[in-house]
Amino acid sequence: MTDLSVNTAPVDIPKPMQDILVVDDEIDNLDLLKRTFRREYNVFTANSAAEALKLLETKEFAVIVSDQRMPEMTGVELFQRAREKYPHTIRILLTGYTDINALVDAINMGHVYRYVTKPWSREEIVMTVRRAVEHYETTKYNFRLLDELKIKNAELERSYEELKRLDKLKTRFMVISSHELRTPASIISGNLELLLSGAIGDMQGDQKEIVENAYKGTTRLIDLIEDVLAVLRIDALQLKLDITEFNIRELADEVTADFKLFLQERKQIVHSTLQDVRIEGDRNRLAQVFMNLISNAMKYSKDGQTIELRGFVEHDNVHIICKDQGIGIPKEELEKIFEKFYQLGDADQHRTSKHKFLGGGSGLGLTIIRGTVEQHNGRTWAESAGKDQGAQIHVVLPIHHTQPPVES
Ligand SMILES: Nc1ncnc2c1ncn2[C@@H]1O[C@H](COP(=O)(O)OP(=O)(O)OP(=O)(O)O)[C@@H](O)[C@H]1O
Ligand SMILES: [Mg+2]
Repeated sequence: MTDLSVNTAPVDIPKPMQDILVVDDEIDNLDLLKRTFRREYNVFTANSAAEALKLLETKEFAVIVSDQRMPEMTGVELFQRAREKYPHTIRILLTGYTDINALVDAINMGHVYRYVTKPWSREEIVMTVRRAVEHYETTKYNFRLLDELKIKNAELERSYEELKRLDKLKTRFMVISSHELRTPASIISGNLELLLSGAIGDMQGDQKEIVENAYKGTTRLIDLIEDVLAVLRIDALQLKLDITEFNIRELADEVTADFKLFLQERKQIVHSTLQDVRIEGDRNRLAQVFMNLISNAMKYSKDGQTIELRGFVEHDNVHIICKDQGIGIPKEELEKIFEKFYQLGDADQHRTSKHKFLGGGSGLGLTIIRGTVEQHNGRTWAESAGKDQGAQIHVVLPIHHTQPPVES
């Protein structure tokens, strides 16, 4: 069935005068039609189907109005030919009641969009053509949009492929450089350690302090390389877990003890209310999770503020919350801070100590936390009431280990 309804969506585009073609073998009719429409459209006339076809060779019309009864070729036949070349052109047939059977067939086959019976009223034909032109403009406009969309889509696809290629290159660069840096950094660190141990002889004057500073710097460098490698392994789903059973409260206490000197320096305390729960997991990797949690809580809190470590059993999980009273996190950043290398505020602080207020970092701590926790089939998220309202980092870990689902 052919939909004869006029579907004209309002379109807000500057309208050029449209070209319409009127076809009739009676010159008087042609003149009348031309006079009727010439103010609104560029009117082209043809007094036979053959002449109309010739004009159609040269250009597209918004609307063709044609008489049905013409010698050589009927209006419907003309429309059929016109439609093959210009499917969007609107075809309006002028017809007498006697042609009704041919008309119904033509409408059903989609050759005719509307018909106007003879004799027509001026108002009727003007309205019909006006709607037809609007319909044509809307259809054309929609097709143009569709074409533009297709082009944009293709551009997007190309950009996406390019990004993927660059991302692979970047990852390759990171893998190679991290591995290449790790070995010399470890050699430097080992030699400095040897010097500091006194095994080679005592150092004099400022020598010890200088070597100590070099050693600290190298340690930071190695930490960074290890963080980058951990993130790369997480990305490549190559983070291997060494699963054992252990008490999570004891692990948290051990990590907190490692921070003792820094906590004293910052006059901060870690108040732990973690329950004694035995869980299955990778002890070393989860130690790093606690390290990163506490390091952040310290760094983003002022001197003298308290850090709370809570932990309780919830269904088959242990739910850990690291809560601080620090600078807080804006709502719109709560998810982004888990992205690699993502840092809020001024990132130009990389040289200051890791434990000082707003001390430097690389923006990898939370990425490693999330990657490690997800590898344990757990979840992690951040909460904060906003600026200076403190932050809470939640970590939910299954008590019993199961293999994470394999990504396709
Ligand atoms: N407890 C917190 N309070 C406020 N902001 C935080 C907190 N934890 C993390 N952030 C914000 O999230 C960002 C990302 O944290 P993340 O631990 O990943 O990196 P980092 O601490 O900057 O560096 P790194 O951990 O690699 O040394 C931080 O730069 C900081 O802006
Ligand atoms: Mg951090």
